[in-house]
Amino acid sequence: MPTPNLAAMEFLLSRRSRPAKTLTGPAPDDAALMPLLTAAARTPDHGKLEPWRFIVLRERALRRLAGEVAACGERLGKSAEDIAKARDAYDRSPLVVVVVEVQKDSPKIPPLEQTYAAGAACLALLNAALASGWGANWLSGWASHDRGFVEGALGLAPHEKIAGLIHIGTEGSAPPERPRPDLEAITTWVTE
Ligand SMILES: Cc1cc2nc3c(=O)[nH]c(=O)nc-3n(C[C@H](O)[C@H](O)[C@H](O)COP(=O)(O)O)c2cc1C
Repeated sequence: MPTPNLAAMEFLLSRRSRPAKTLTGPAPDDAALMPLLTAAARTPDHGKLEPWRFIVLRERALRRLAGEVAACGERLGKSAEDIAKARDAYDRSPLVVVVVEVQKDSPKIPPLEQTYAAGAACLALLNAALASGWGANWLSGWASHDRGFVEGALGLAPHEKIAGLIHIGTEGSAPPERPRPDLEAITTWVTE
């Protein structure tokens, strides 16, 4: 029988995000963030293409981006309520790591696999933050899909996309458990 890593399994079986709006400072400093980014970059990656990069946004950058998100919402004709909600996410957050999907030219690895790998890096970062005792939440939002916002405010290149905005900070309270998928319904056992 294999030797289980019981602590790792206990974490994976009980992990859950902490809503971004409940996160406060302090956030991990640069030294505390490095192992989390290292864990995120240690992600399955077909062809070793590294189809991701990270942008670390601390408070002053987030406050600037709150204004840029609001301007983006005005441009897109979003409701005042939608704009206020999106703005708030940037205004209140102590730290966001933007995981950027960076598609690489490859004759062998399809773009979709690179998208999956960037998503996997998001989950690895989220889990590393939670396992380190931080509160963390993977968000997106309409602005994160707007080319004007991501290229103008965040400096992404035309071939880059936001895979996730990982908010990290000090948790206020743990949220109640949410319903989890019905394993019977989503699992097919093929025995022959
Ligand atoms: C790609 C992606 C984007 C998400 N964007 C948002 C978002 O913008 N707003 C939101 O409330 N939740 C969003 N979520 C869901 C949150 O991460 C939510 O907290 C999560 O599903 C809770 O999962 P957990 O309890 O298993 O950690 C997103 C999830 C993923 C995978």
